[in-house]
Amino acid sequence: MPSGQTLRGPDRFFPPTVVRGLQELDQKDEWGGAVRLVDLPRIHDPRGDLTFIEGGRHIPFEIARVYYLYNVPVDAERGGHAHQELQQVIFALSGSFRIVVDDGRERKEYWLRDPRRGLYVSQMIWREMDSFSQGAVGMVLASHRYDEADYYRNYTEFLEVAKSQSA
Ligand code: TYD
Repeated sequence: MPSGQTLRGPDRFFPPTVVRGLQELDQKDEWGGAVRLVDLPRIHDPRGDLTFIEGGRHIPFEIARVYYLYNVPVDAERGGHAHQELQQVIFALSGSFRIVVDDGRERKEYWLRDPRRGLYVSQMIWREMDSFSQGAVGMVLASHRYDEADYYRNYTEFLEVAKSQSA
């Protein structure tokens, strides 16, 4: 093949492998589904992996906002809040980090490191994020636009509300 010419036609065709394993959106865990892992599809071929997110299919809310965390110092602690209404799904697009979640009764930790596996976090869950690897990139899909009034940034206040709601 002459140099500079790209390969086209059947020689260029790599049959993709669709890796299934989507979890049902209503999958429940011991926290009533308030925090759970969400698996996205992966299209795998020799050129690399491709993952996609379709509204209304893969994420259990309508996506109103996307934001990402990057240039995070490895010793940074992020989060440290809960939300009255906001739901999120958090992904490590690159690298890894830890998320500690707390529903006011118990704490759990998740390590995110797979770009196709996100963590759904419902409203009224306190979250803390740390142990970012060098160059980690976190992407967050959110159910609402940014609203500071939706935040609980004081843990004691969050606990009081969480306990009153579960009473
Ligand atoms: P914050 O939600 O506290 O970040 P994290 O949970 O990752 O530690 O937000 C940090 C700052 O950025 C805060 O001043 C609010 C602002 N912010 C926006 O203006 N828009 C946004 O969508 C988000 C997520 C934060």
